[in-house]
Amino acid sequence: MIVIKKDFPLRELNTFHFDVKASEYVQLHDVNDCKEWALSNRGDSDVLVMGEGSNLLFTGDFKGVILSPVMDFIKVLHQYEDEVLIEAGAGKKWDDFVEFCVSNSYHGVENLSLIPGTVGASPVQNIGAYGVEVKDVTERVNGIFIDTGEEFGFGNAECDFDYRSSVFKKGLKGKVIITSVVYRLSKKENFKLHYGHLGEKVKEYGEINIENIRKAVVSIRRSKLPDTDKTGNAGSFFKNPSVSSVHFEELQKKFPDIPGYRLSSGFVKVPAGWLIDKAGWKGKVMGKAGVHPRQALVLVNTGGATGKDILALASAIEKDIFDKYRITLEKEVNVV
Ligand code: EPU
Repeated sequence: MIVIKKDFPLRELNTFHFDVKASEYVQLHDVNDCKEWALSNRGDSDVLVMGEGSNLLFTGDFKGVILSPVMDFIKVLHQYEDEVLIEAGAGKKWDDFVEFCVSNSYHGVENLSLIPGTVGASPVQNIGAYGVEVKDVTERVNGIFIDTGEEFGFGNAECDFDYRSSVFKKGLKGKVIITSVVYRLSKKENFKLHYGHLGEKVKEYGEINIENIRKAVVSIRRSKLPDTDKTGNAGSFFKNPSVSSVHFEELQKKFPDIPGYRLSSGFVKVPAGWLIDKAGWKGKVMGKAGVHPRQALVLVNTGGATGKDILALASAIEKDIFDKYRITLEKEVNVV
């Protein structure tokens, strides 16, 4: 059943908690709703598909249609000897899906515990944390083309995954409704503990197993990242930039402690959080927008901020980072 609401308040539907409205808000409960809506759409309004709004920055009221696919199911499609294929509805809360996998000992997403958002949003920006990206376990992404109402099922390669990016953020941006995602998980242990201090943190909980990895990730995230229910934010505001090795060596001369991860392309990925922190921005407040005191990559609404307030702070940071390091930061959040 399609549910349509006009002049819909989005305050609780965006994790920055900006007081904005959508001209129309449409809840879609199954694939047929998505098709029906697509076929009836005249194409004269802007359309935005939204999960939990955890990676969005609204600069004002949205004068268009927000589509909210609320399909909330988990279905085991196929059990192999060592693997399992699981389909989850686009509206399923991501962390509830992770919880399901962990409690069934299906390995592969435990490092992605507590990431805000929905299953449907997970492939769009190829969510990632602690050495794992959702592309590593994504088998297929199912959805509907908005202009024709036709169904599609994209295999992993067709999704064109990249660091915090996919075809759904590039060529197909605004053109599809993702209805469900099929994940391929492992029934065998294949722990990934190389990122930062994750391995040590897990040992604080006892033996190394899937439950303890989830506990460790949850605890690291809770200690560094602000709770969106209390402090409006959208996780990492910027992507971690890559620089050429020549550029990195120049930076190392000036900043001997600069961290960097060498990529196979020869480029070096530098943590934007470190750059912003080192530049003195951590904990700084500009009007009603601030830089989180425990993770400089996260910009927060300190109370009553608008999207424009956050963007003003972001611009000041971008300029300073360019002046100090000759690095152009790219936003990770979607500005609407
Ligand atoms: N750092 C600082 N100061 C800071 C923040 C970070 O010096 O204020 C340094 C850390 O000490 C560390 C490095 O920067 O050496 C990396 O920090 P961290 O492990 O916190 O990860 P990140 O690169 O800042 C990325 C993701 C996060 C993800 C973490 C953990 C991006 C844009 N962000 O952050 O994802 O949780 O790794 O894997 O890639 C998100 O996308 O919303 C998000 C939270």
